[in-house]
Amino acid sequence: MELSGDSIVIHDKSFRPMISQAEIAAAVERVARRINEDYSDVKQPPLVMGVLNGSFIFMADLVRQLEMRCELIFVKMSSYSGLSTTGTVRTMIGLDQDITGRDVIVVEDIVDTGVSIAHVMNMLRGMGAGSVRVCTLFFKPESYRADEHIDYKAMEIGSEFIVGYGLDYDGLGRELGGIYVVEE
Ligand code: IMP
Ligand code: MG
Repeated sequence: MELSGDSIVIHDKSFRPMISQAEIAAAVERVARRINEDYSDVKQPPLVMGVLNGSFIFMADLVRQLEMRCELIFVKMSSYSGLSTTGTVRTMIGLDQDITGRDVIVVEDIVDTGVSIAHVMNMLRGMGAGSVRVCTLFFKPESYRADEHIDYKAMEIGSEFIVGYGLDYDGLGRELGGIYVVEE
């Protein structure tokens, strides 16, 4: 589909408009409706956990469409190469509460290979979460190679690289209202 608007340059690459703000809003509404149905009769407010930085805009738009009471937190994954023999060790920053038995909904900007989200889900299960589901704005089925089932995918795209609505290219582009795709 052709979208109006000019291409933009970020760092060394050119990006063209791909998904409009209106299309994103419609997709967010659709996915929120599914969550509302699935969590309509939970006893305890689910813990809705945005993964920074990319999820901040999606999280803000999504939770305002949710009809049940929920507890909102943000976490950040940090990678560092420690002394571990396995190489990179990743830790979760910002989760300083007991999540035993809690229903957790992880909110992600994009799931690509699935390596990051599988790691997050395993950590949460290890901490005793009662249930762990993922809600991602974008899903790249052609790149995905994790075994985890992703419950809520607002939009599916190819393996192309995108920016905007929270997603960045090397630190830039998060503030763009719509989605732009890299021009090869
Ligand atoms: P995964 O572990 O391969 O699923 O990678 C997920 C992470 O890679 C996301 O949280 C993003 O930070 C980044 N990423 C993957 N694809 C894109 C993209 O098209 N645009 C911006 N960031 C991306
Ligand atoms: Mg991310």
